[in-house]
Amino acid sequence: CGIVGYIGKGNAKEVLLDGLSKLEYRGYDSAGISVLDGKITTVKAKGQLKNLAEKCRGVKLDGSVGIGHTRWATHGAPSDINSHPHLSYDGKISIVHNGIIENYAPLKAELIKEGVEFVSETDTEVLAQLIRKNYHGNLLDAVIETVKIVEGSYGLGVICEDEPDKIVAVRKDSPLIVGLGEGENFIASDIPAVLKHTRKFYLLNDNEFVVLKKDSVKIYDFDKKEIKHGVYTVTFDETAAQKGGFDHFMLKEIYEQPQAIKNTLNGRVAKGEKIVLDKIADGDLKDISRVFIVACGTAYHAGLVGKTAIERLSGVPVDVDIASEFRYRNPILDKNTLVMVISQSGETADTLAALRLAKQHGCKTFAITNVVGSSVSREADFVFYTYAGPEIAVASTKAYITQLIALYIFALYMAQDRNYTDKETLENIKSELLLLPEKVKKALETDALTKEIAEKICVETDIFYLGRGLDYAVAMEGSLKLKEISYIHSEPYAGGELKHGPIALIEKGTVVIALNTNAELRGKMDSNIKEVVTRGARIVEILPDNFENAGEGCDELITVPATEAILAPVTAVVPLQLLSYHVAIAKGCNVDKPRNLAKSVTVE
Ligand code: G6P
Repeated sequence: CGIVGYIGKGNAKEVLLDGLSKLEYRGYDSAGISVLDGKITTVKAKGQLKNLAEKCRGVKLDGSVGIGHTRWATHGAPSDINSHPHLSYDGKISIVHNGIIENYAPLKAELIKEGVEFVSETDTEVLAQLIRKNYHGNLLDAVIETVKIVEGSYGLGVICEDEPDKIVAVRKDSPLIVGLGEGENFIASDIPAVLKHTRKFYLLNDNEFVVLKKDSVKIYDFDKKEIKHGVYTVTFDETAAQKGGFDHFMLKEIYEQPQAIKNTLNGRVAKGEKIVLDKIADGDLKDISRVFIVACGTAYHAGLVGKTAIERLSGVPVDVDIASEFRYRNPILDKNTLVMVISQSGETADTLAALRLAKQHGCKTFAITNVVGSSVSREADFVFYTYAGPEIAVASTKAYITQLIALYIFALYMAQDRNYTDKETLENIKSELLLLPEKVKKALETDALTKEIAEKICVETDIFYLGRGLDYAVAMEGSLKLKEISYIHSEPYAGGELKHGPIALIEKGTVVIALNTNAELRGKMDSNIKEVVTRGARIVEILPDNFENAGEGCDELITVPATEAILAPVTAVVPLQLLSYHVAIAKGCNVDKPRNLAKSVTVE
């Protein structure tokens, strides 16, 4: 979910709707705003933001104070009623909330006993009613008293009819920033929501309360002791987050990959020179004997490639975990373990919790993230920014590819003083890494071909992805990309595993996308391809352009520029991204905002 709040001299409705449009990537099941103008007026609508904008047209909303929310449903189905903002029973207090209140059920039962009537099924309404119950003329006090008894995560914005000159906000385990204007101030889940109005921000920490007025911002702790914050000034520009001539953000972001890779490499990798990592001194990672990579979704898939790269080049064993699993499986961790979290947004709740768990165990922690100032970047011991630029499409592309680059750089860094891989091999990989922006640019030339193939396969209901070794990791990402945006059921399998069950699903005409980029594994993979061809499968094969006899035994052949086998995921994933994009377009799907998903999942 995403929240935004405004207090100043302008029209709050306009600022809120615009801010929410920048936050839609956090969820778009429903949206709503409350504007304070003598009294609180609230408008909410199910579905995308345009429904809310439409609904607002018929309502008088002239105030200069307000809060807004775009929702990704957790408790309660997407509906007008369950949308935020939520009001207290008497309409005096309105709140927007990002996060989950874990103990909402007993709190709600108690309030019902006291006679409070609830209108929605949400955990958030419990907060609204509780703040009202605790309100005795001071909104900040009411919010402090309330969060003392709630368990869970929250980024919260609150307005009150009796105190029309302020917004009270608080953050715990959920992102929240303050935008600093002149004669106006803002709160938001994320910087882009208000970047149009200011470049100056306070990045809040957990358990910090904010009293936002038109001309002042004060931050307090639980004891109402004032906290001073340094101002964070943003340097990236707003147009970087616009579509720039492409039909969709996803396509734009796919095409930005060569530049994004350059940004990731910049200042870190140079021929004949040692790898430099920001703020890591020689020896900081010397004692690391084991690495855990922890992430969700696409970032997890990047981690699978990272495992092979780190192990092969540095000899340090690596485990890769899904963050929500890692947290609850009692992993064996010690001070020589490095826990690396990978998160585009840097705000994914499970990933952040995994990072905190690692710190509790005394591990060193390392974050790979795309968002400067994000929660993981602030909490990890070491941070590697991918600098891919804002990624707006829900389906991750340029963030993934730059995570791969970050992992290769990290693997080379770990390798350089360990004498596990000879220097010449490491130098070769470095040179090849530097060629990747050009090679990815070349791989983008598969655009037209993938479109043709997409138009043929878009009618399928099941598609399989096959690969061995690193190709298997890429197959997982390709398959996820397809299912996310085209809603076609698809499954990735390791080439050798197919015959142990899933081959039963192959019948005449089944589409199998086979990745075959590794010369050493090619013979084995060719056999696996034959096994499914024999059962009637149609093969789309992805090969490097230096392989001989390309195209034998496949129906469609896609070639990508050859590179070092270990780096092949970077070029191989490009046609898979394009293929998913074109399949989704051919099916008329909403590419940038696929159903049921959110770009950044800040709930467990
Ligand atoms: C969501 C997105 C995925 C993303 C995952 C992890 O589920 O829809 O595309 O891979 O979160 O996000 P993160 O920001 O932590 O990389």
